[in-house]
Amino acid sequence: MDNFIIRGGRPLSGQTMISGSKNAALPILAATLLTKEKCEIKNVPELMDIKSTFELLNYLGKNCFYGYGNFVAEEHGALKLHAPYDLVRKMRASMLVSGPLLARFKKARFSLPGGCSIGMRPIDIHLEGFKKLGAQVSYEKGDVILTAKKLKPGTVKFRFPSVGATENLMMCAALIEGVTTLENCAREPEIEDLAAALTKMGAPVEGAGTPTIKIHGAAALKGLKYSVMPDRIETGTFMLLAAAAGGKIKLLNAAPRNLDALIRCMKKAGVKITAYKDSIEVEAVRGRPKPVSVSTKPHPGFPTDLQAPWMAFMARAAGVSEVHEHIFENRFMHAPELVRMGADITVTDKKAVVRGVAELLGAPVMASDLRAGAALVVAAAAARGRTVIRRIYHIDRGYEKLEHKLKDLGVDATRVKA
Ligand code: EPZ
Repeated sequence: MDNFIIRGGRPLSGQTMISGSKNAALPILAATLLTKEKCEIKNVPELMDIKSTFELLNYLGKNCFYGYGNFVAEEHGALKLHAPYDLVRKMRASMLVSGPLLARFKKARFSLPGGCSIGMRPIDIHLEGFKKLGAQVSYEKGDVILTAKKLKPGTVKFRFPSVGATENLMMCAALIEGVTTLENCAREPEIEDLAAALTKMGAPVEGAGTPTIKIHGAAALKGLKYSVMPDRIETGTFMLLAAAAGGKIKLLNAAPRNLDALIRCMKKAGVKITAYKDSIEVEAVRGRPKPVSVSTKPHPGFPTDLQAPWMAFMARAAGVSEVHEHIFENRFMHAPELVRMGADITVTDKKAVVRGVAELLGAPVMASDLRAGAALVVAAAAARGRTVIRRIYHIDRGYEKLEHKLKDLGVDATRVKA
């Protein structure tokens, strides 16, 4: 297992490129199962989660090729309809293959994804949606089995705007002739990216980015040529890295329009942000940022995926701030690791109280999940001295070529074999 060694305490400078969005690419790769025609998807980041999806699609029978950000999926024979445990357990988003398989073959079998370190991660909202469109759900040996004599267009109202359930049902509806309406949908920008891809495949999707989405399903879908949107969470993470460590950076191939909530909060903290069409400049405050409290909400609220890096930024604020996590039940595991670096944070249930300190100090710490690991990188760049971050395989799931990008921005970071 690799570690990161980061020597912090120096202001950043420089610029780096933002990669394609992991959370937009994953559903779009799953959507290739909706057609037997060739699909070519560009700007796909080279990440562990993409590799897991590549393995799953190949296992199911697609012929996939990946290189230099380009992903190609072809189909030369019958597909398997079962996503097995040892593939699904590696990545929960594997269950995004269920909607496409159900729609195309009227059957899908996949391992219950199980929880992860940030929460139970149930899939009831997905399954309720599939049943609304005519599927039967059964369980066997830890697997979920979806079958349908015939799927019919209809209206599905989600009890919670689940990102994955919205994506899964959009893909399923894309191959059901007629108009399916989804209500109380997730509004994340990645949903809009998937909608654009499905529209290009021949299933026009209206309303993505709003709570109500209409999918005009077709009997068959065409192949796809598409380029994935920039990763807004990677962008936000690097913005917070600069705000916490000091200095001025520029992020290229970004999409600032997707980060309104973060930009508002960072400006309140005193950070100077200049947003262009596809790049963004961040200049840290001289001294300590103002304390700003945040509550995570579904988009367009403050993103839960930036809650941990935000807490690392607030660790050196000139005052007390609160961080409320409303999306996942256990997403504060970065807090005790930040305390090891000198932060003053107390957690009760869904609230963390962050009493800003003048200085963080480097220390050995451990990543527990993807975004908690990102928070430790932010804190290590701001801290005086040397930090060793263990279990960075968590971070590799969501940040492409991280050590190279950190070096672009002037962070003294090295990856070492443990
Ligand atoms: C997506 O996960 C993202 N992953 C997550 O990013 C992100 O944190 C999350 O959306 C929220 O924005 C991908 O896009 C691959 P949800 P997803 O369904 O779809 C509960 C990262 O760091 N829920 O919107 O799984 C669930 O337990 C990852 O890149 C149900 O109760 O998120 C959670 O509390 C982490 N039943 C809440 O809803 C369901 O059927 C939000 O989950 C589905 C979800």
